[in-house]
Amino acid sequence: MISDKMQKELNEQVNKEFYSAYMYLAMSAYCNTIGLPGFAHWMRLQYEEENMHVTRMYDYILNQGGEIHLKAIEEPPTEYGTPIEVFEQTLEHEQFITKSIHKLMSLAVQETDYATQTFLQWYVTEQVEEEANVNDILLPLRMVGEDKSGLMLIDQQLSGRAVPTPPPEN
Ligand code: FEO
Repeated sequence: MISDKMQKELNEQVNKEFYSAYMYLAMSAYCNTIGLPGFAHWMRLQYEEENMHVTRMYDYILNQGGEIHLKAIEEPPTEYGTPIEVFEQTLEHEQFITKSIHKLMSLAVQETDYATQTFLQWYVTEQVEEEANVNDILLPLRMVGEDKSGLMLIDQQLSGRAVPTPPPEN
């Protein structure tokens, strides 16, 4: 069982993860329109990964006898600027999500809610990986800048991103 406050905050996080999925789908479409299919592929898989983050959290709330409150998902932008700006916004967003997960963990600690702490630990670790993955792409992107052949090479690399592994069951 989880507290009413925890239930509310987990539902808020479900909404943020839904927004993440929505934003990455919008970014995928944008990358397609600017002629970067590899970037679009990476973002499309990120969209799928975020959906898994959503359903894992949704299942946990239900498993704990909680109620699901699905709220309206904010509309993401349709344009994201240069390829570097696309990934800068990705990093910024993931840092926002990391902070949000940490706030949830603080609440679970404060409430001595051991089950939710264990559940959230996976997200804490996942956020380290998410930020590292984006930084690993931003580094070469900043090196090539606006150089077209450099961008094409990175696009080719991003087209090789593998389908994400589903998270562990609760
Ligand atoms: Fe679900 Fe990218 O954080």
